[in-house]
Amino acid sequence: MKILLTGGTGFIGSHTAVALLERGFEVILLDNFSNSSPDAADRVREITGRDLLCIKTDLLDADGVGLAFSQNPGIDAVMHFAGFKAVGESVSEPLAYYHNNIAGTLNLIEIMNKNGVKKLIFSSSATVYRADNPVPYFEDYPLGATNPYGWSKVMIEQILRDVCAANPEWSMALLRYFNPIGAHESGMIGEAPNGIPNNLMPYITKVAAGELPVIHIFGDDYDTPDGTGVRDYIHVMDLAEGHILAMNYIRERKGAWSFNLGTGKGYSVKELIAAFEKVCGKELPKQTDARRAGDLPAAYANTALAKKELGFAARYGIEKMCEDSWRWQITGACRK
Ligand code: UD1
Repeated sequence: MKILLTGGTGFIGSHTAVALLERGFEVILLDNFSNSSPDAADRVREITGRDLLCIKTDLLDADGVGLAFSQNPGIDAVMHFAGFKAVGESVSEPLAYYHNNIAGTLNLIEIMNKNGVKKLIFSSSATVYRADNPVPYFEDYPLGATNPYGWSKVMIEQILRDVCAANPEWSMALLRYFNPIGAHESGMIGEAPNGIPNNLMPYITKVAAGELPVIHIFGDDYDTPDGTGVRDYIHVMDLAEGHILAMNYIRERKGAWSFNLGTGKGYSVKELIAAFEKVCGKELPKQTDARRAGDLPAAYANTALAKKELGFAARYGIEKMCEDSWRWQITGACRK
């Protein structure tokens, strides 16, 4: 089977490419390298000992994407990872986020339609659950968002459900990721955010490496066991596995299917830092700051549906997530 990955050299795309190649799938990566590098494709080749095609194009360039499909006939399914993903930036640049994420997806769907490719796995997010939903989050909860990035995911999910409703030939999985961390255990690929990281794990690894002075804990007065924010961290290789299971699932079914990809277990900011300190063998400088605007006390998945329908269960715990994130940081490979 031939699978095309948009955003294929990014964090989740590159790890999913490894998982696919290791299962014998043929893989084509599409990326504009706006937040990643073609080096990731080389590293995926090196890890797996298999070749893949890596095409530079932007989803907003319909001609370029059209060529990628017409020159590579026989694509069975698309995994759509490409998109802008910085929440804060989306608040100051809403039009850029809506345009890039939504128009890019519309182009992709139209081109897939023209080329008779009707299977899509979409990178959605736990951020599509409205802030007033109780935890754990179930897939049938009402959707909503608090920032343009989140709304772009809610809107794209709706567009995709509408496409499936209008055209019964389509099969789609909308995968709602919780907090992906970790890296491939080779230490050769991982998350490489531009500039100062917004997310907790890349921030911790940079403090541990001495590249940033101190971890800022955003609030310790939440209504949680230790007062800090609780999240459902999931190893990126588990997430990659979820994509393969979801693809197998939609191969036999029509319509749009939403699934949570999380572990179902929440860890607090303090717990994640403590787990990381154990792995890196030193205490890290940290200070408590004010809450970050827009953050929730706790967000974690109900995993029953993904388990029942996909057979998905996360294999890796918090210690392995920390070990692999740390290995990626110290190999130096993360410096793009
Ligand atoms: C964030 C995004 C979410 C996105 C996800 C990708 C927001 C509001 N949400 O989720 O839409 O899908 O990243 O992984 O940005 N924290 C600190 N110090 C830090 C950074 C974070 O204490 O330097 C805390 C946060 O308050 C939170 C937890 O760590 O409790 C996790 O934060 P983060 O890694 O940014 O993920 P989310 O906010 O859950």
